[in-house]
Amino acid sequence: MDVELNKLIEYLDNESSIIKLMVDHNGTITHACKYAEKLAGKKLSGTSLKDFFTDFNAQLDINQMLTKGVTKQMLNINTYRNLPETLYFTSIPTQTGIILIGEVNNIELEELRQSMINLNNDLNNLTRELQKKNIQLDQLNKLKNQFLGIAAHDLRNPIASILMFSDFVLESKEDEINGELKQILEMIRNSSQFMLNLLEELLDVVKIESGKIGLNLVKVEMEDLLRKNIKMNSIIAANKEIDIILNIPQPVPPISADPVKIEQVMNNLISNAIKYSHKNTTITVYAFSTGDEILVSVQDQGQGIPKNELDKIFVPFAKISVQATSGEKSTGLGLSIVRRIIIGHQGRIWVESEQGKGSKFYFTLPIKNN
Ligand SMILES: Nc1ncnc2c1ncn2[C@@H]1O[C@H](COP(=O)(O)OP(=O)(O)OP(=O)(O)O)[C@@H](O)[C@H]1O
Ligand SMILES: [Mg+2]
Repeated sequence: MDVELNKLIEYLDNESSIIKLMVDHNGTITHACKYAEKLAGKKLSGTSLKDFFTDFNAQLDINQMLTKGVTKQMLNINTYRNLPETLYFTSIPTQTGIILIGEVNNIELEELRQSMINLNNDLNNLTRELQKKNIQLDQLNKLKNQFLGIAAHDLRNPIASILMFSDFVLESKEDEINGELKQILEMIRNSSQFMLNLLEELLDVVKIESGKIGLNLVKVEMEDLLRKNIKMNSIIAANKEIDIILNIPQPVPPISADPVKIEQVMNNLISNAIKYSHKNTTITVYAFSTGDEILVSVQDQGQGIPKNELDKIFVPFAKISVQATSGEKSTGLGLSIVRRIIIGHQGRIWVESEQGKGSKFYFTLPIKNN
C-alpha cells in the first residue's frame, strides 16, 4: 500500500471523529478506531457488533449488509454516558467482512442549530413585548389611581356639606321637624357619613398604592396608644355589650412608628372584632415585645372566617361571606389598608381564625425603623 493511503488510514484510526469498524462474516468486530472505543467507553475488538448498537437496532442483519452492497442507515449506539447517540452509518462489504463508517449528519446539526437560534430570537421578542406591556400596565394603573384620587377628592367636599347641613337641621330645628321628616334627615346624614368614610378609605388606598403613604415616624408608646384606642372603641362596643380587655404581661419599649397610621390599624381591627361578633362577648388586645419587634394581637369570640376565604380578606373589596351581626356598614377596604400600613412599617400581618370560635389578627412592628 502506498504511504499516502497508510497515512490516511492511520489518521482515520487514531485522530478523526468518524467511527470506523471492521466486522467479520459472523458480526464480530475485528478492528475499531480510537474514536469508536472512546464513544463506547470500552474495547470493541472481539465483541459482537450487535452490542455496540442499542437494543432498538439489535436486529441488525449482517447477511443483508454483506449482500446488499454499500448501504446507508441511521443507527443508535450505546455510549459510555449511557445515553444513546444517533449516527449515520455506511456499510461497505469487503472480502473479509464489512467496513462500517459512522458519522454525524452535519447538515442536520446545522439545521437544528438554526432552529435554536430562531427559537431564541422568538423568545427575545416575546420578552421585549412583555416588558413593553408591563410598562403600559404600570402607566394605566397610575392613571386609574389618579382618576380614583380626583373623583374621591372632589366628591369629599359636597358630601361633607350634605352631612353638615343634615346635622345642622337635625340639631338646630329639632322642635320644628316631625317624626317622618326626622327619619328621612337621619337617613341622609347616615348615608352621607358612610359615603364620606368610603371616600376617605378610597383616598387612603390611592395614596398607599401610589407610594405616597408618607409615614411620619416618631417615638410611640404602644401601651398608651392601645389604651387610648380601646377606650374610644369601648363606647361602640358597649352597644353590643362587648368588653375589650388589654393584656400586656410585660412593659413594652417605645417604638418608632406613625401613631396616626397605627391608630387607623387598631381602629380597623377592633371595629371589625366588634362588627363581626355577637353580643356579650370579649375582645382581647395583647402586646408583647420580642426584643426586635412588638407583636400585637386582636382576638375576638365572633363568627370566625371560613378557611377558604382567609386568603381574600386583605384584598380590597373582596366579597367575604361573614356578615356584620347588627347591620353595620361594610365597604371591604379596612383590612387592605391595614395590611399596607403594616408593610409600610416593615412589619408583618396575619390571621388565625376558626368558624364559630373567633378570629385572632396579629401584626408586628419593628422597634427600630429606618
Ligand atoms: N374579626 C373578624 N371576624 C370575622 N370576619 C372578619 C373579621 N374581620 C374581617 N372579617 C371579614 O373580612 C372582610 C374584610 O374586612 P375589612 O375590614 O377589609 O372590610 P369591612 O369590615 O367589610 O369594611 P370596612 O373595614 O372597609 O368598613 C369583612 O367583610 C368580613 O367578612
Ligand atoms: Mg373593617
